[in-house]
Amino acid sequence: MSAKAIGFEMNKPVLAVEGLTVSFDGFKAVDDLNLYLDRNEVRVVIGPNGAGKTTLLDLICGKTRATAGSIRFKGQELTRKAEYQIVRAGVGRKFQTPSIYEALTVFENLEMSYPAGRKVLGALLFKRSAEVIARVEQVAAEIFLAERLHSEAGLLSHGQKQWLEIGMLLMQDPELLMLDEPVAGMSVSERGQTAELLKRISRNRSVLVIEHDMDFVKSIAHKVTVLHQGRVLAEGSMDAVQSNPKVIEVYLGH
Ligand SMILES: Nc1ncnc2c1ncn2[C@@H]1O[C@H](COP(=O)(O)OP(=O)(O)O)[C@@H](O)[C@H]1O
Ligand SMILES: [Mg+2]
Repeated sequence: MSAKAIGFEMNKPVLAVEGLTVSFDGFKAVDDLNLYLDRNEVRVVIGPNGAGKTTLLDLICGKTRATAGSIRFKGQELTRKAEYQIVRAGVGRKFQTPSIYEALTVFENLEMSYPAGRKVLGALLFKRSAEVIARVEQVAAEIFLAERLHSEAGLLSHGQKQWLEIGMLLMQDPELLMLDEPVAGMSVSERGQTAELLKRISRNRSVLVIEHDMDFVKSIAHKVTVLHQGRVLAEGSMDAVQSNPKVIEVYLGH
């Protein structure tokens, strides 16, 4: 590819969702949705309960199959791929409740998230383990758990467990990281640290976040998309969205 062509690829949205629809027994949880995400962008999706936010993430990560529409990630169509193929393509997704192994240490949880399948011959095993250890230490520092590497994950605070799960996703170095309500149940100081973490990790990846905490949204969002009844009700800067009468009526006014 020429430098010019690569430049063009870099300017295109990393994720392009078009006409996305999913119907559950005739009920459209996501309805003809369009969404474009840039490289290194932090996008926050807000909206009332039942708006289709979690379903949107389910569709992107392949957990739910679309009824219609397309999801292109770096030009590749995702709607017909299996979940593991979507992970391999570079999409990581964090669910609302942390799914870490409580009986294992922080180190072990991170270690087992290191991508498998990078075929290494026996002779290179030592080199590989050094590489894994270095990566675990780097990620642990990023998620504020460097001092807790050898603690059992079950002993961490709720917020630290959430960070550990983000760390497990970072081990795979995804180009798109999706997080569903990452600061729910966190203390004020943990929320501040999570905002710092997301800003830092978006320097070389895109982040799609669902969140209700408006102070948190304001501190991280480049752009906000408001969903309502499976459709985009409004999209733009936090200020524009917050002063939009339609958004106040269906969401912020409550
Ligand atoms: N697998 C499913 N089967 C039937 N209805 C579903 C399913 N998943 C979600 N829904 C419905 O779709 C709507 C959107 O849900 P959801 O995406 O979880 O909303 P949000 O995350 O914005 O609160 C809700 O009315 C929900 O009940
Ligand atoms: Mg939800």
